[in-house]
Amino acid sequence: MTKHNKTLGEFIINKQSEFKYSSGELSRLINSIRLAGKIVNHEVNKAGLVDILGAAGEENIQGEDQQKLDVYANEVFINTLVNREIVCGIASEEEDDFITIKGGNKKHDNKYIVLMDPLDGSSNIDVNVSVGTIFSIYRRITPDGTPVTIDDFLQPGKQQVAAGYIVYGTSTMIVYSTGHGVNGFTLNPAIGTYYLSHPNMKFPEKGNIYSVNEGNYVHFPEGVKKYIKYCQEEEGERPYTSRYIGSLVSDFHRNMIKGGIYFYPSTSKNPDGKLRLLYECNPMAFLAERAGGKASNGFNRILDIKPSELHQRVPFFCGNKDMVDKLEAFMQKHKE
Ligand code: AHG
Ligand code: MN
Ligand code: MN
Repeated sequence: MTKHNKTLGEFIINKQSEFKYSSGELSRLINSIRLAGKIVNHEVNKAGLVDILGAAGEENIQGEDQQKLDVYANEVFINTLVNREIVCGIASEEEDDFITIKGGNKKHDNKYIVLMDPLDGSSNIDVNVSVGTIFSIYRRITPDGTPVTIDDFLQPGKQQVAAGYIVYGTSTMIVYSTGHGVNGFTLNPAIGTYYLSHPNMKFPEKGNIYSVNEGNYVHFPEGVKKYIKYCQEEEGERPYTSRYIGSLVSDFHRNMIKGGIYFYPSTSKNPDGKLRLLYECNPMAFLAERAGGKASNGFNRILDIKPSELHQRVPFFCGNKDMVDKLEAFMQKHKE
């Protein structure tokens, strides 16, 4: 008999029965993200055909500018969540402000809010390189029945109830955690089903990849420069190897499987780095910790930071625990 891998749908149903008193709302929420992921995947796969199809007179959602795929992805995720009436609020990297949503009975009684980066690594689309979607889920903290407020969105990352990403790579995968393990599912595009392909993902014991945009080297803090030099030195299992795709989702995904550290430090021009705390760093930090890794701003745990604004940026160091520990030691030693 051929081996039957569990599908994401089956996995969600099994998980649901483990949460005795849960309403099934979180399961339905993950379900709608999986659906939106399939729709975006379909569009991302056609990205290279945009001009050809356009010339043939085909209607195309992205129009002339392929970069618009992030606007498209934003709309797909928001519409899917709004139509299914399962969340009370959404914040997105692509929206200036958060969105308030009423439930099916026109009351504000849904429990969960979603924060997302609908298309991460968007500059890679033109060149046929992997992109992704990142999502982060919290329970609201303001009273049920009232419209959500900014306080619901500015919770520290440790309050997340679930987080994950979809990577539109050589295969499309959804990787997420509802707090315990991290599980990865691969999409079979022929039948539109995700199969459990990477159960209980963990960073390997030792990592040897460092992922950073070294073009910014001269602008990095001293501790980061020293850490990069440490990675390059010949000693023990070093030098490490360097890999940088420029899509956080893909760089993180590879590092979790092969072992490594991703970092986007502060620079002299951008003291808070580039990445967004709420849409990028918190969900990745949540996954990293569940997979035995670590995420830091160079000195403190990412998930402990109390956000002060929706689009806040933060320096980000994330990956194998031993590598992040080492980086923090260099930061501490060379503190200005
Ligand atoms: P986005 O496409 O959502 O703006 O995110 C891009 C981010 C991240 O995915 C990536 O690792 C980083 O920007 C790359 O930045 P550099 O081009 O400055 O290296
Ligand atoms: Mn991004
Ligand atoms: Mn983006």
